[in-house]
Amino acid sequence: MSNKKNLVVFTGAGMSAESGLQTFRGHGGLWEGHRVQDVATPEAWNTNPELVLQFYNERRSQLLNAKPNRGHELIAELEDNFHVNVITQNVDDLHERANSTSILHLHGELKKARSTGTGKIYPLKRSNLNIGDTCPDGWQLRPHIVWFGEEVPELLNAIEIVKRCDIFMVIGSSLQVYPAASLIDYTPDHSRRILIDPNPAVSRNIEVIAETASVGLLTFISKLKK
Ligand SMILES: NC(=O)c1ccc[n+]([C@@H]2O[C@H](COP(=O)([O-])OP(=O)(O)OC[C@H]3O[C@@H](n4cnc5c(N)ncnc54)[C@H](O)[C@@H]3O)[C@@H](O)[C@H]2O)c1
Repeated sequence: MSNKKNLVVFTGAGMSAESGLQTFRGHGGLWEGHRVQDVATPEAWNTNPELVLQFYNERRSQLLNAKPNRGHELIAELEDNFHVNVITQNVDDLHERANSTSILHLHGELKKARSTGTGKIYPLKRSNLNIGDTCPDGWQLRPHIVWFGEEVPELLNAIEIVKRCDIFMVIGSSLQVYPAASLIDYTPDHSRRILIDPNPAVSRNIEVIAETASVGLLTFISKLKK
């Protein structure tokens, strides 16, 4: 048995900021120029599915040109010293491309599509998903994204991981999107809680490293060596 500690890294949109992907808050309340309720809710899908598909098609093609940043790489390298479980709110695949080995996507994945009829999930090999693209059973495909107001199917799995952690590290999240932000409430009493964010949410009982993801991770790692 290894005596490595369990480190949960809980990432939000700020994790991918240094890869050129915009966070969701801090741009006048708009996400890449759109109101969230127009592109990331079931109501938006029901009233204007073309716009919703176009929005996620743009996010997907933007992702093709983005690369994992030093922060993503450092998280993967932490596996030398810790049992690392990444729980991400991000829908990009930058943790995967940086070679982290345990990644749970709480809010879905841009590179997957879901059948609106059967709920089955399919890898999306191309960047565009359009009206008329159907699953093998003939149902329209939608982005495999957990929209605002929808249930978070992976939440219970995430809670089980968090309950076993020794260190809970939040990186680049405003901790305002629920139920994801409530994960911190499941950390064991003995655990250490750390928030890496240049503009940290202040109300939580948590150690703060007020830096960007890559710089903050280097600060965390340098303290380990002391
Ligand atoms: N890359 C993505 O997949 C992506 C991008 C935008 C939004 N989203 C979705 O929108 C929701 C937004 O909630 P959220 O809490 O993740 O994000 P948020 O946009 O609410 O908060 C982002 C946080 O990142 C911080 N930040 C900005 N630059 C940073 C940097 N270089 N390093 C570290 N932190 C930095 C900000 O200070 C802020 O606290 C999520 O559910 C997510 O699914 C995903």
